[in-house]
Amino acid sequence: MPHIIRPMRKEDVSQVNEIDREAFPGQWPPPNYKHELQNLVARYIVACEEGAVMPPPPGEARGWWSRLVTWGRKSPAALPPEQFISGFAGIWILADEAHVTNIAVRKSHQRRGIGELLLIHIIDLSQKLKATNMTLEVRASNTSAQSLYRKYGFIEMGVRKAYYLDNREDALIMSTENIHTDSYQALLKQLKEVYLQRWDNHLPSV
Ligand SMILES: CC(C)(COP(=O)(O)OP(=O)(O)OC[C@H]1O[C@@H](n2cnc3c(N)ncnc32)[C@H](O)[C@@H]1OP(=O)(O)O)[C@@H](O)C(=O)NCCC(=O)NCCS
Repeated sequence: MPHIIRPMRKEDVSQVNEIDREAFPGQWPPPNYKHELQNLVARYIVACEEGAVMPPPPGEARGWWSRLVTWGRKSPAALPPEQFISGFAGIWILADEAHVTNIAVRKSHQRRGIGELLLIHIIDLSQKLKATNMTLEVRASNTSAQSLYRKYGFIEMGVRKAYYLDNREDALIMSTENIHTDSYQALLKQLKEVYLQRWDNHLPSV
């Protein structure tokens, strides 16, 4: 099913927490995404399967009996169904820099182009918000994420020793060149074109 990207909303937070716990089990305390949605420098997006919804919680029938029992009350059964979220990403805009805070995809949905889709959208968003460079930290052992970032022009700028508290692992600091230069725009355009030939997901304009 094709994926779309939209801004994260407060109704998404429980699914986002689930994805965060699965993706970053050693990270403590976990980020408070409800607060992050209020953070003026932060922007979060989610990837949803077009048309896919979460099943109602067990015991919450949506048949005629449930409608009769809850008639006149604002019951969960009367609310629109929750969209199924496959992944999310966030940035903080700090002066002219976009710092990638998180990018994660459910294990069950990895290797289907969703991480790349999220990254393309946050690069696009950073450009619109007038950031010149993008930067992030990634675990030294996280070679799959590093490979994704390298593909999009992030290069290793340094190391933060023992940055991760759970196992004192080093973080690589990775940054892009100025994302408004002709050379970066050309790289992004080419990567988007290749992406569109490979995946049936929705990209920002090419
Ligand atoms: C990193 C992550 C977001 C990638 O998401 P994904 O949806 O599986 O990635 P995609 O299918 O879009 O792959 C895009 C690129 O990522 C890299 N990549 C992703 N998974 C990889 C793997 N298992 N091995 C090597 N490269 C990998 C490749 O460069 C790939 O491009 P390619 O298909 O042309 O080789 C995902 O693995 C994840 O959520 N990991 C846990 C959380 C995490 O580590 N986040 C990064 C924090 S800094």
